[in-house]
Amino acid sequence: MPGFEWFGDEERKEVQDVLETGVLFRYGFDQARKGHWKARAFEEELTKRLGSRHAHLCSSGTSALSIALASCGVGAGDEVILPPFTFVASIEALLTAGAIPVFAEIDETLCLDPRAVHAAITPRTRAVMPVHMCGAMARIDALKAICDEKNLVLIEDACQSLGASHKGKYAGTFGHAGCFSFDPVKTVTCGEGGAVITSDQKIYFQAQAYADHGHDHIGPDRGLEEHPFLGMNYRISEMNAAVGLAQLRKLDAILETQRAHKRILKQALGQHPQVTFRVIPDEAGDSATFLSFFLEDADQARRIARGLSAAGMDGCFYWYDNNWHYFRKWDHFKQMKSVSGLPFHLQKACPDYSRVLLPQSDRIMSRTLSLQIKLSWTPEALEKRIEIIEKVMKNDK
Ligand SMILES: Cc1ncc(COP(=O)(O)O)c(C=O)c1O
Repeated sequence: MPGFEWFGDEERKEVQDVLETGVLFRYGFDQARKGHWKARAFEEELTKRLGSRHAHLCSSGTSALSIALASCGVGAGDEVILPPFTFVASIEALLTAGAIPVFAEIDETLCLDPRAVHAAITPRTRAVMPVHMCGAMARIDALKAICDEKNLVLIEDACQSLGASHKGKYAGTFGHAGCFSFDPVKTVTCGEGGAVITSDQKIYFQAQAYADHGHDHIGPDRGLEEHPFLGMNYRISEMNAAVGLAQLRKLDAILETQRAHKRILKQALGQHPQVTFRVIPDEAGDSATFLSFFLEDADQARRIARGLSAAGMDGCFYWYDNNWHYFRKWDHFKQMKSVSGLPFHLQKACPDYSRVLLPQSDRIMSRTLSLQIKLSWTPEALEKRIEIIEKVMKNDK
């Protein structure tokens, strides 16, 4: 997810605008900022690009999730259904809100299985949080239909999938709110940053106020603004927003390059009978940050992962064994290790996560490898990767 690979004069120019005014705060200082509103400009461009009515830029993808939960009215005691293949941030945002994570199985989209979501609904379910993992989208039509039918909040974690779409509609625009990360390894980066998008006026108002201590941002004097409710500080600085603004303008070129590189690698990998590919409900909308594929069993997947790395292939991930993105290895969470009591601990119905079994997800993740797609590859570098794939796959037959 390599926006940082294309950091250049465009980013430096936007940052320089901010440095020249010295106004690092996103609100106020109207005279001193000499017309430079980087966070605001980012939000306007993001809404235009994705087709949502509103966007609010914030300090991270994790804070975007917290803001989305709060502004959609999801909080203490509410059950939220999410997949076990995600980033631990999804869980952290829920636990700090006092909400209860309920895991439903993934399917071969590597995202939530709608049938499993259906089965996980209880009278306490308040929301479903699909995570569009590794650049491509979940079965969003089916998930939205479930949420509509059961009157549940739909919050899309699209942190890894900026620019992905389903039948021409962008990730993050299907639910009540969509969340993005612009951390240093995302499709576009602010250095650190995130955003919540929504087309609901009330959710937007609550999001932008909650992210800034509850300030309603009405009127010219910050000291006189009303606080309709309590909030937090999840603000982004103008410096980070400036970097992101330049990066966002490169999104189309980034997607085009990723897709071209992925097509070439996929073509090579597809020649090998032991390989099948992740299901993507609308292939044309894949943002192509990763090429994810299945091998026949866990042993073969481990061997191939080791072989590819040993032959010099960087960015090859076997999520099942690493500590990064899959529930299986999150012992700190399963044991509920926290530095202090969480609101979640006050809930009576605390599940014991060390006993949660997800056999369907295990079967899928234990066979899954993901290859990172980079922007900076030359034709020679791509050729070299194909050679490595050929060698490792043939040797494993
Ligand atoms: C699926 C997912 N959700 C949320 C986040 C959190 O984003 P951030 O690192 O900006 O807090 C990430 C970051 O990797 C992610 O991959």
